[in-house]
Amino acid sequence: MKEVQQFLGKAWTDFQRCFAESLESDIPLLDKANQYLLGHGGKKLRPLFTLLIAKALRGDCNERVVRCAAASELLHTATLMHDDVADNAPTRRGVPTMMTVYSPTTAVLLGDYWLSKAMDLIIDHPDKRVLHVFSKCLADLASGEMLQLEKAEKADTTEDDYRRIIYCKTTSLFEACMVSAACSVEASEKEIERCRIYAWHIGQAFQMRDDMLDYSPELSIGKPTGQDILEKKITLPLFGLFEKAPRSVVREVRRRMKNPDAELVSDVFAWVRQYDAMSYAREKLDAEIRQAVEVLAAFPASPSRDYLEKMAGMIAIRTV
Ligand code: IPE
Ligand code: IPE
Ligand code: MG
Ligand code: MG
Repeated sequence: MKEVQQFLGKAWTDFQRCFAESLESDIPLLDKANQYLLGHGGKKLRPLFTLLIAKALRGDCNERVVRCAAASELLHTATLMHDDVADNAPTRRGVPTMMTVYSPTTAVLLGDYWLSKAMDLIIDHPDKRVLHVFSKCLADLASGEMLQLEKAEKADTTEDDYRRIIYCKTTSLFEACMVSAACSVEASEKEIERCRIYAWHIGQAFQMRDDMLDYSPELSIGKPTGQDILEKKITLPLFGLFEKAPRSVVREVRRRMKNPDAELVSDVFAWVRQYDAMSYAREKLDAEIRQAVEVLAAFPASPSRDYLEKMAGMIAIRTV
C-alpha cells in the first residue's frame, strides 16, 4: 500500500492535506478527539481506490477527485465510530476505541461531526450524481445495520440476506467513492458503470475477508475476534460450516446462536477447522476478486490499472 501511495505522489499528499484540514476545530475536546483519530489512522483504502481509479481513467487526479477521496475516508471513519458504539467494541486499529477513551456519547457526536464534514466536501460538486451516490450510501449504511440487527435477532440470515447486508454496510461506500471519482474526471456512462462493477466486487470481497478475519484469532488484526458470533451475526465462514458440517452440528450451532457465549465461539472455531469451512468462504471471496479483475480488462493498459489489479489481490489475502 505504501508503494501505491508513493505512486500516487502529489494526489496522495493533496488528499492527506484535505483530510486533515477538514477536521480543524477551535473546540478543545473536539480537536483533541480528532487528533487522537488522526494519530491512529487506518489503512485509508477508500481514498487509495478513489485516486487510483481516477488515474486509471484519465491519467491524473483533479481537486474534485481529491475531495471525494477525503470525503470517503471521513465518512468511513464516522461509521466506524458509530459501529463501535453499536457493537460495544473496546479496541480498533490496535488502540482503545473513541467510546472507551471518551464516552459513547462523544463517539456518536464525533461520528456525526465527521459525517457532516464529509458532506461539506462534496456539496458543491458540479455533478449531482456525486451527492446522490454519497447520500444513497448513508441511507444504505443505516438500513444495512438495521437489516443486520433484525436478522441477528431472528437468527435466520440466508446467504442472500448476508450479501445484501454487506453491500449496504460496506460496498455502497466503495461504490460511492469510485463512481464519484469517475464523475469527477468526466468519464462516460460506460466508464462509470465499469467503475461501479469493479467497486461492487471489491467491496463485497473486502467485507467477506473482514468476516473471515473475525474467525482468525491467531492473527493480530487490531480489533477483537469472535465478535460476529457473539453479536449473532451469521457471516461467510458460518455459511461454509452450514454447508460442510453434519446436520447435527448445524442444528446445534443454530440453536446455540440464539444465546451465544464464549464457549460457542471456541466450539465453532474448532468445527470451522475440522470441516474446512474456510475453503467455502475462500471460494466465494476469490470469485468476487476474479470478477473485479475481469472488468479491469476494459480499462486502458497503464500502471494505475496494474495497481488496481494488485489491490484486488491484496484484498483477498490481507491480514489487517
Ligand atoms: C473496517 O474497515 C470496517 C469494515 C468495513 C470491515 P477497514 O479495515 O478499512 O478499517 P481501517 O480504516 O483500515 O481501520
Ligand atoms: C463493518 O462491519 C462496519 C461498518 C461498515 C461501519 P463490521 O462490524 O464487521 O466492522 P468491524 O469488524 O467492527 O470493523
Ligand atoms: Mg463492528
Ligand atoms: Mg467485522
